[in-house]
Amino acid sequence: MTSTRFFRTSAAAWVAAVSLGCLAVAVAGQPANRLTIHADQPGPRISRFIYGQFAEHLGRCIYEGIWVGEDSPIPNTRGIRNDVVEALRRIKVPVLRWPGGCFADEYHWMDGIGPRDRRPARINSHWGGVLDNNHFGTHEFLDLCEQLGAEPYLAVNVGSGSVREMMDWIEYTTSDQDTPLVQLRRQNGRWEPWKIRFWGIGNESWGCGGSMRPEYYADIYRQYQEFVRNHGDNRIYKIACGASDANYRWTEVLMERVGHRMNGLSLHYYTVPSGRWSDKGSATRFGEAEWHATLRRALFMDELLTRHSAIMDRHDPRKRIGLLVDEWGVWHNVEPGTNPGFLYQQNTLRDALVAAATLNIFHHHADRVYMANIAQMVNVLQAMILTDGPRMVLTPTYHVFEMFVPHQDATFLPDDLECEDYVLGAERIPALSASASRDASGRIHLSLAHFRPDRPTELDCRIEGAPVRRVHGRVLTAPAMQAHNTFDAPDRVRPTAFSDFERTDGGLRVRLPAKSVVVLTIE
Ligand code: AHR
Repeated sequence: MTSTRFFRTSAAAWVAAVSLGCLAVAVAGQPANRLTIHADQPGPRISRFIYGQFAEHLGRCIYEGIWVGEDSPIPNTRGIRNDVVEALRRIKVPVLRWPGGCFADEYHWMDGIGPRDRRPARINSHWGGVLDNNHFGTHEFLDLCEQLGAEPYLAVNVGSGSVREMMDWIEYTTSDQDTPLVQLRRQNGRWEPWKIRFWGIGNESWGCGGSMRPEYYADIYRQYQEFVRNHGDNRIYKIACGASDANYRWTEVLMERVGHRMNGLSLHYYTVPSGRWSDKGSATRFGEAEWHATLRRALFMDELLTRHSAIMDRHDPRKRIGLLVDEWGVWHNVEPGTNPGFLYQQNTLRDALVAAATLNIFHHHADRVYMANIAQMVNVLQAMILTDGPRMVLTPTYHVFEMFVPHQDATFLPDDLECEDYVLGAERIPALSASASRDASGRIHLSLAHFRPDRPTELDCRIEGAPVRRVHGRVLTAPAMQAHNTFDAPDRVRPTAFSDFERTDGGLRVRLPAKSVVVLTIE
């Protein structure tokens, strides 16, 4: 039995205490799974930016997946494909990070402005060594953000760029004074400055962004941030490159040496199903051992956030600095026969469960986690959308993001979850993941993930401080763990109406299908 408890320690501080182990609490005749939602003790706001996306110049993410060019037979608006934009608008993408990733530290933004036929082609040396014709640049990216209704998040080139290059990019995009750079922007078709709040100073500076030690990066960051200028009424939220996985020392050094010179500190964590980068495992051909291991590794996000947050709390007890998980997701082997540098992978029900569990974890850390960006939006890693020429398919992960939309900017409601363990061999994870929030109109949204692939289970849900009058829900599941959508069968995994619950005295009892994601709206 696993008990997950979220309780308030002070007006501002929420502490998540997760204890894995057998706490035999099942009462005869009652479901072994019990969830109490403390609707009478509302917590922090769940920032909508937790539902952010990431799009890099990598494989077929930008080119083909988003950008097809104005002359393409694929229906587009100023070169950006309409089908993809329309689908993404339904998941209300709040923020989009670009141009990388590792690519950001070799990207020179001036290559991507001006008449397209005069832009230089450059080698994308990180990702397949292919030529990037720079037809998708700053104007096209910001047009995409406007079409999506998303805020832009630009990653600055620290690894092979300069302070001057960053200053010029900020001035070019956000100033309305009569300078040569602003005149150039106007010549290139944009009169008004854009509003760009989020700027990241380098990407993975400990690795592909420059192999820096945290002390060195902290100094470099301090230098760069000094020259980040707010033009007009544009106010910049400065983001420092954060740790990889459990590199707690990186966070410690950055908090100590940079402190409030940053508004946000990033964190990258990828779920690698096998735990080995050399052979991560297939996205679609796997058994229960890989299913279990993937979920176990994904749930590690909770420990990472707890421990990085604890370090941040010591230096920033008022929680003014946000933690931004600006790359996360499942990283499988590429699909057979595809370019290994393009990171193209399929997406199954297993990935959907990882997405649901991870979003639930983010909600529980909403006091510190201000943004998260799943990698990546189209055709790369744990994508929302896959494309093949003019065809497009929505992945199971897309459907989770769509089902969870009501949590965006809602108020987190703390909970206590006591649930069965899902044991496989020597490994043990909780069988359930849950989180709840209340939206501006007072409705409660409860998202549940049930990990066991072999049998359904029951959950007794008690809601303290709110009546249960009407409930409706949706479920995402499929007969097989490996179920996924293809261009020929695009609807194998998609949400359907869910009504397998009944009202009880203090709340409701829900029967969760095996391997499912359920979202309930409680009025
Ligand atoms: O998302 C793919 C790559 O993963 C990014 O370019 C890099 O930042 C990370 O290592």
